[in-house]
Amino acid sequence: MTYVITTPLYYVNDKPHLGSVYTTLICDTIAKYKRLRGEKVIFITGVDEHGLKIQRTANEKGLTPEKHCDEIANIFYSNWTNWNISFDKFIRTSSNHHLSIVHEFYKKVKDSNDIYMGVQKGWYCVGCEEFKDNPDNSPTYQCPIHKKQLEWKNEENLFFKLSKYQKEVEELINDPNFIEPKERRNEIKNFVSKGLKDFSISRTNLKWGISVPDKKGHTFYVWFDALLGYISALSLNESNPSLDASINQGWPASLHLIGKDILRFHAVYWPAMLISAGIKTPKKVLGHGFLTRDGMKMGKSIGNVLDPSILLSKYGEDRVRWFLLKDINLGSDGDFQDKRFVDIVNNDLANTIGNLLNRTTSMSRKWFNNSIPIEIDTKDSIFLELSQKTIESYNNNFENYYISQACNEILNFATKINLYLNDEKPWVLIKDNKYNNKVKQIIYNVLESNRLIALLLMPILPELSNRILDQLGHIKIDQDRWKEYLIWGLLNPGSSLPKPLPVIEKLEYE
Ligand code: MSP
Repeated sequence: MTYVITTPLYYVNDKPHLGSVYTTLICDTIAKYKRLRGEKVIFITGVDEHGLKIQRTANEKGLTPEKHCDEIANIFYSNWTNWNISFDKFIRTSSNHHLSIVHEFYKKVKDSNDIYMGVQKGWYCVGCEEFKDNPDNSPTYQCPIHKKQLEWKNEENLFFKLSKYQKEVEELINDPNFIEPKERRNEIKNFVSKGLKDFSISRTNLKWGISVPDKKGHTFYVWFDALLGYISALSLNESNPSLDASINQGWPASLHLIGKDILRFHAVYWPAMLISAGIKTPKKVLGHGFLTRDGMKMGKSIGNVLDPSILLSKYGEDRVRWFLLKDINLGSDGDFQDKRFVDIVNNDLANTIGNLLNRTTSMSRKWFNNSIPIEIDTKDSIFLELSQKTIESYNNNFENYYISQACNEILNFATKINLYLNDEKPWVLIKDNKYNNKVKQIIYNVLESNRLIALLLMPILPELSNRILDQLGHIKIDQDRWKEYLIWGLLNPGSSLPKPLPVIEKLEYE
């Protein structure tokens, strides 16, 4: 079975910000983990290029929408390459490939008798590309997310009969596995319990969109088109794109990872659209929290974003990945503060993990002929048990998408090993010959723990993981056999250790 995981398809109104990097890094970590576990993975990302928001942005820049989208889509693509994101498909919703899938899908929904013409009136947020049910009472009618004025719309649109799928959607969202975390599921249940209303799926007076085949002057509502990107991405390599060709590649998606602001689209509208077209619904929708700056959602429209490229060049991939994955509970909001960032990465990565390795390889080289000690027991029962428990909890956490807890399993393990080393004090014992064997065993235990730490870090911080394995004697890993390496005692006694180098430097807080 193929594991299909998706990021949202990002709007190309601007280049990626840390919020988009956050979602993509989580997906990347999950994809890498699943691949290491031996699963076949298709990791989909891409860009959402149509709609009023993009059309206006292009106009403001004096560019055609096509030119503007090419520019930003390329920036997204190269950005993910710079972050070493292991995506398999990058879908652009302005492609012809995608267009033909949207047309085919529309026909199916129409054949189910789920499309009709109506009048759409209401307050619209261009930032969200969404009608707002309850604008605030201020005279300006602001969007609570974008803090921008809503716009009044009154036009003839095609509608999708969402209300027809009330029962099916209720059944789906009652399945506790479908929406996570629980609080988000409750929000959606509450929304659905009020009764689903049909929604408009076409726009007039909007050129920058996919044309509706049988309605002149209408283009598809950007969300109706964009959600289908998850399906069209699957057949990107096929010369004849079709819904069937896509579905055969591995639909339904195993996981849509998205921000909490776009949960309704994914957990209500999208499943109903799919049911209408006779296509299976995704297996899970996970709504993560927002990255905030001083408590405000970080966003392109608000303008309080952190430039991920600057963070990447200043701090490197490992540190940013660790902070975002470990310090923020998937599902909760997380505030990015420079001081906290520096403290976390220094404590966890430089001190607890890096320093442990560095001091132990130095001792081993000094006392045991530049090598890992020999004549040791590779089956020390305390460590067998401790490492096994750590690996088990780590895997359980990953399977449940508790990424921060999986990171903490590694960190707790490293902390215990630090305590062990400090309690045993091999630097004192080595002074007395009779403790020679004991010292060998201690050093081996710590080095072997470092090997396991490196392996457990592999899907989370691949670069740091490789540097640790290098320091342990240029250990090469056959990624297909990752699972098999995750047992205590596989570090080779007697193999030589290279000159110790810090695997990660400490940062100074500016
Ligand atoms: N184009 C739509 C998605 C269509 S999916 C078929 C969209 N794009 S977006 O660029 O505005 O947002 C993409 C994702 O980024 C959303 O999941 C959103 O929640 C997430 N984030 C935007 N700002 C964010 C933060 N400050 N923090 C975390 N995630 C954030 O919506």
